[in-house]
Amino acid sequence: MRKAARIAPSILAADFSKLGEEIAAVAGASDWLHIDVMDGHFVPNISLGIPVIRSIRPVTDLVFDCHLMMTNPDAYLAPLKKAGADLVTVHIEAFPDPVAIAAQARDEGLGFGLVVNPPTPFAAIEPFVELCDVVLVMSVQPGFGGQSFIPSVLDKVAATRKFVDLRALPTDIQIDGGIGIDTIGAARRAGADVFVAGSAVFGAEDSAAAARELRRIAEEATDDGP
Ligand code: DX5
Ligand code: ZN
Repeated sequence: MRKAARIAPSILAADFSKLGEEIAAVAGASDWLHIDVMDGHFVPNISLGIPVIRSIRPVTDLVFDCHLMMTNPDAYLAPLKKAGADLVTVHIEAFPDPVAIAAQARDEGLGFGLVVNPPTPFAAIEPFVELCDVVLVMSVQPGFGGQSFIPSVLDKVAATRKFVDLRALPTDIQIDGGIGIDTIGAARRAGADVFVAGSAVFGAEDSAAAARELRRIAEEATDDGP
């Protein structure tokens, strides 16, 4: 039995001049809130950080899913937790040996996940999947919203699904980048559970309706097996 499909709107695509309202509007139709933290070094862009997370924490009870596109996320786990983060995901490209940072996240009371960029093979995270609450498969190069989905990453989603199912692990498989009504079904069929969507949600006229529609398409694409 597959886990329910869950939607994680990415606030990177929200209107920051009214961020609280944007989050409140979508909260009832969403499961997690995806928060992209960039350092201008691991990725060629800068987004938002701890003060913003702290100010939006009172707006919603959604899981704060912090995607850390940073070279040194270990230096920020305690302040992220204090600001309201629930879960942090860290790039394997930044931390090829993530055992210590996974333990550090647990000590802080944070959920932990690993992220793999499109060119990075499943083999890079394979030894560490059991440390993860979430494996996040990037379906675009990280750093910017609004890019086109890279379909070849679906093989990596499927490999992760197979690994997790064979061992009956509780790990969620998340996908991020270019997720919309045309791509979410294929991502679900390949094995994803949690779908990050920025422009497809906050770029829509009715963001809550867009999130509900994405969840409906993902649920419809769910193959529970024989
Ligand atoms: C890209 C970010 C994504 C981004 C997704 O670096 O990790 O979370 O906000 O945006 P869309 O859904 O527009 O591709
Ligand atoms: Zn992201």
